[in-house]
Amino acid sequence: MAYTIKLGMFGAWRGSSYIELIGEEDPSVVKIVAVCDKQADKLDHTEGLKDAKLFSDFNDFISYGKSVGMNAVFLANYFHEHAIYAIKAMEAGMDVVSECTSAATLKQCVDLVRCVERTGRKYMIAENYPFMTANLEMKHQIDGGTLGTLLYAEGEYNHSGDLNTLKYLTPFKYHWRAWMPRTYYVTHAMGPLMYMTGSMPKYVSARAAHSKLLEEIRDFRPNDDGMARMFCEMDNGMTASFTGCTAQASDYSRYRVVGDRGSVEQGGYTGGNVRLYYSGHTMPEGVTEEARMITPDPASWGEKGLKALHAGHGGGDYWIIQNMIDYFANGVTPFFDVYKGVAMSATAILGWRSCLNHGENFRIPDFSKEEERAAYENDDLTPFPDENGENATLPPSTMYGKY
Ligand SMILES: NC(=O)c1ccc[n+]([C@@H]2O[C@H](COP(=O)([O-])OP(=O)(O)OC[C@H]3O[C@@H](n4cnc5c(N)ncnc54)[C@H](O)[C@@H]3O)[C@@H](O)[C@H]2O)c1
Repeated sequence: MAYTIKLGMFGAWRGSSYIELIGEEDPSVVKIVAVCDKQADKLDHTEGLKDAKLFSDFNDFISYGKSVGMNAVFLANYFHEHAIYAIKAMEAGMDVVSECTSAATLKQCVDLVRCVERTGRKYMIAENYPFMTANLEMKHQIDGGTLGTLLYAEGEYNHSGDLNTLKYLTPFKYHWRAWMPRTYYVTHAMGPLMYMTGSMPKYVSARAAHSKLLEEIRDFRPNDDGMARMFCEMDNGMTASFTGCTAQASDYSRYRVVGDRGSVEQGGYTGGNVRLYYSGHTMPEGVTEEARMITPDPASWGEKGLKALHAGHGGGDYWIIQNMIDYFANGVTPFFDVYKGVAMSATAILGWRSCLNHGENFRIPDFSKEEERAAYENDDLTPFPDENGENATLPPSTMYGKY
């Protein structure tokens, strides 16, 4: 009998965009059976919710889920609590799709991979930016092999906003968005580079820059650096530099991959197109111009390519749902499995320690190896306070001092 993904959605704010997309899928393939959010106003009644029961408590949601055969959970809850709930869901026998980030501490990285290995459950991270139409086109060009040896990759994710937007996104004093250092939201800048080049980070060194503009709202948001940039040695020999989430007066996001024969980039001025460049002496046969703009053609990726066009984040959200179906229903492991997920989280976490230590270089552990990850099993340093404002052990901004 065909497998139906009976999904529970945990967190209905970001989750509501996925609820809507899932409502467009064949319910015999995937349907939402339960939703959990403690803020009832986040629960939009959309097409995707017609078979779903609503909960405000996670334990009630899981208990009910067990009684109706819920076999997977989509985590769209608070950024720094994903690993905690991923582990609870997997222990309850359910597969997990997790919004970014996978884990907020190195200890959680270790706990998470051990849980996946112990329970045998499927786990993927819903990092959607690699699947934006223009980023897929960049990957297509890189896969063509004409750029030569890859030397350098660069990614920049930017999400600045006016005070009202920031207040809307940060609904209470100890909300994660007010305490998250600039390196932590790394997946949208780093994930696309890993996906395009098939590489993993080995070492990270980082610096943050303080923003006078954000300092004006420090009482409301103590994380008043404007940007951080991480620099990594990747396992394919390439160097990569990328931001976390920045608040720069700059275009939204951009990506660039440079080889010794050619380069490819998109973002800002390319307007959804991809710029491909070869220097005169490295032009492949049949190419007549050094530089040209390529307009991605989603139709050439089949029916799904066209369906993705109306989905959020440049089509990226649609491909997350397709990856989830391929994985949970058909056993096709996605690129962003648990090891890629925790590698990105560890880059963010160690990147922040580097910012606090004048760019000190840190090795990113290989979490697939017990002998490497065991060294981090008690490393629970965190910049995120609990709901009472306590237990944060790292500063949220470099203005509070470097070490
Ligand atoms: N990939 C993307 O493009 C993208 C875009 C937006 C948000 N996100 C991610 O989605 C996640 C959620 O972000 P958001 O924008 O929805 O804001 P948010 O983190 O403020 O919202 C989380 C929602 O989960 C609910 N929730 C959290 N803990 C709960 C608990 N224990 N019990 C019941 N309900 C609980 C909250 O009530 C809230 O509605 C974050 O990790 C964020 O990084 C990703």
